[in-house]
Amino acid sequence: MSIPEDFIEKAFKNLTKGKAIRISRLLDTLLTRLYDKDPYSNHHSQAVSKYSWFLAKRHKLKAHRIQLLVLASRYHDVGKTVFTDEMFSYEEPLTDDQWAIVRKHPETGFSEIFYLIESEFNSERLLWLSLILFHHRDYDGTGYPTSLLTDESKDYINRYNSRIQEALSPNVDGVQDENDLRLQLSVLHIADAISAATSSMRSNKLKKRKSMSWIIQDIEGKSGKKYHPEVVSTVNQMGVSLWERFARDNALI
Ligand SMILES: [Fe+2]
Ligand SMILES: [Fe+2]
Repeated sequence: MSIPEDFIEKAFKNLTKGKAIRISRLLDTLLTRLYDKDPYSNHHSQAVSKYSWFLAKRHKLKAHRIQLLVLASRYHDVGKTVFTDEMFSYEEPLTDDQWAIVRKHPETGFSEIFYLIESEFNSERLLWLSLILFHHRDYDGTGYPTSLLTDESKDYINRYNSRIQEALSPNVDGVQDENDLRLQLSVLHIADAISAATSSMRSNKLKKRKSMSWIIQDIEGKSGKKYHPEVVSTVNQMGVSLWERFARDNALI
């Protein structure tokens, strides 16, 4: 089972409403820069897109929400374009300064895309960008970024901050079904984690590749903390062998 061939194209058309060519060219320059620096990122963004798509379908999210999630998965790590070659080589442990850059990559990606499409900005794209901005933010509010945009924020972005904050507040159970950002974030977060832990392209180098059963157990242990319980239960219901088959069928491990 894999994403239909024209899915990304259609999703992009819906998101950009007639400006698809201009915006996709701009965004793809970011992706190309990232993939040139780190070929694993190309593989990773495809894997995360497919896992997100698969999980989102299981959750019966509306077609439009699934499109946003898959597009967010495709671009979620564009903030890594500022990483140095040394940081991509995974040969030496990262320094404190390098870790600071790593923790900032969701905000860097958000800002890079925001500045490219600022003149075309609308609430739909805000939701999409929020998925990118918070893809390392945990269900319980920890992770990073811990707060909304800080040093690079602009008045224009700030106007939207309260809406994003509301959607992410641990005391608010999402923003209605239609806007359940926290559930969508957990789909992306888990898809990201599964790809990072199973990929042979990077994990073998790090000697950290994990079995699917280890990964699923780890996800289960973080239910309600790192991940949304509903998404964790979907991952569990699918079971180890289905996940293994899905990853293998798509040549993602
Ligand atoms: Fe990331
Ligand atoms: Fe990632």
